[in-house]
Amino acid sequence: MAQIKQTEAWKAVAKSAERLRAKRAIDLFSDDPKRAQDFSIEAAGLFLDYSKNKIDHNARALLLELASERDLIGAIKSMVSGEKINNTEDRAVLHIALRDFALRSYFVGDEDAGQAARAEREKQKRFANRFANGELRGFTGEVIDTAVNIGIGGSDLGPHMASEALRPYWLPGRKVHFVSNVDGQHLDDTLRDLDPARTLFLIASKTFTTQETMTNAHSARDWLCAAGADEAAVAKHFIALSSNERAVVDFGIEPQNMFVFWNWVGGRYSLWSAIGLSIALQTGWDVYERLLRGAHLMDEHFRDAPLGQNMPVLLALVGVWNRNFMGCAAHAVLPYDQHLHRLPAYLQQADMESNGKSVMKDGRPASYGTGPVIFGEPGTNGQHAFYQLIHQGTDVISSDFIAAAQSASPLEDHHEKLLANFLAQPEALMRGKPFLEAFKELEAEGHPVNIVEMLTPHKVFPGDRPTNSIIFDCLSPERLGALIALYEHKIFCQGVIWQINSFDQWGVELGKALAKKILPQISAMGEERPAVTDHDPSTNQLIDRLNAFRARGGSTP
Ligand code: F6P
Repeated sequence: MAQIKQTEAWKAVAKSAERLRAKRAIDLFSDDPKRAQDFSIEAAGLFLDYSKNKIDHNARALLLELASERDLIGAIKSMVSGEKINNTEDRAVLHIALRDFALRSYFVGDEDAGQAARAEREKQKRFANRFANGELRGFTGEVIDTAVNIGIGGSDLGPHMASEALRPYWLPGRKVHFVSNVDGQHLDDTLRDLDPARTLFLIASKTFTTQETMTNAHSARDWLCAAGADEAAVAKHFIALSSNERAVVDFGIEPQNMFVFWNWVGGRYSLWSAIGLSIALQTGWDVYERLLRGAHLMDEHFRDAPLGQNMPVLLALVGVWNRNFMGCAAHAVLPYDQHLHRLPAYLQQADMESNGKSVMKDGRPASYGTGPVIFGEPGTNGQHAFYQLIHQGTDVISSDFIAAAQSASPLEDHHEKLLANFLAQPEALMRGKPFLEAFKELEAEGHPVNIVEMLTPHKVFPGDRPTNSIIFDCLSPERLGALIALYEHKIFCQGVIWQINSFDQWGVELGKALAKKILPQISAMGEERPAVTDHDPSTNQLIDRLNAFRARGGSTP
């Protein structure tokens, strides 16, 4: 395929962007009275309004042509038919098979991925029900009512985010904790208040070799042993969520206590697999299944809807427009929902590990921007932190605003205020405040003219900051599932347009390898170490300084 920038479709979009850059987004509404409706779409219980982006009918049609030119329809078919679209790892990408309640078959070689997923789901369901019913007993015979998910990256972010989002559905008397960081303080802080006799560990790792997870898993085992559990008893307190049976057995977990998933499930797309067991333990199985069903609804829409009426496709194209034609190198995710407080962190991995690539699938360098920086915080907290830059900074940043019409909280007046803010921000970001308006406002406030002149430039808002608004009735398991699937498919579509492999993550390897080399150079506390010389001077200096601090010991908190 030709480099995308050389295609007629790309050039046409670029021309259209040039024309629209000279316009104000707000004026697009007066040009087109039906604009709000025409640039909105509803699917799987979600409503997306993307009309506040500086995009018109012509630009959208050209973006859709660009998608056709990239054979997006063919790419979707390749994914759902189990082709090995993750070309650098020679793997299929079939997370949709994990939540396909239409009972389709997905063949990966001779294996029916759909059937394998259903069988594994039944096993998970039985286990989740035993946990919920108090049938799991620990080494003292007490009921196990607490679980700790030990995992990192995709083996933590997805389940942690979903578990937090589903707080109103938590089973009473059951608590699942999440430990990810190799920083011992994370495990320590979590275990401090837990009772070893009632605690189950879920070792969540696709590879079962990840340094952080295995270190935490071993320390968790030591913690249990220190409380009196012998090796046999430890088996009752550990289960593995993994695709590496050999490593699981080597760790000492019985194969029957292992829940498997497969190499066609990418880590950051794994919350629908065994990795989601922590969610099911926290909410009960039925709620977890509702989450999967919500994702399935979005999948059905994504497979069936024509490109121009396809929510993930449109969201992806708007993102490409902002990233490649409107100069947005960063994108904010702003859920106006406290229970979605882990969504930005989850999407950082989902999006940036998928599309943070500068080489195309065929190995040639990409000569255009790919995945943007993703960041965010729940509204309204973000408003009092970084929105200043989004409103008045020198860079234009695009944003997704997300809110439910109803809250799980009975404090209704809070939700009304939350929604007012959710609506006000995108309006302000689009409208801005021109110089004259700011000037007149200050004048009307009665300030002396020199103060008005001095303050006015600071009170100007350029506006034209692009935003999407995603709304739904309430944050039910179904809506959450649909929302996550929406983003997964958006990321996939953007990868197709950018001609990159969204499913590998080679960029995380270099640092891991260097950390292995450095580990033996870190001194034990109180130990003097000779100077280190085999890195760059800055790294050598930092190792030596840290080792000197450690040799001195002393002031611990
Ligand atoms: O950060 C790299 C990565 O491979 C992620 O893609 C993955 O989600 C994470 O590490 C954890 O990997 P594992 O589940 O194999 O422990």
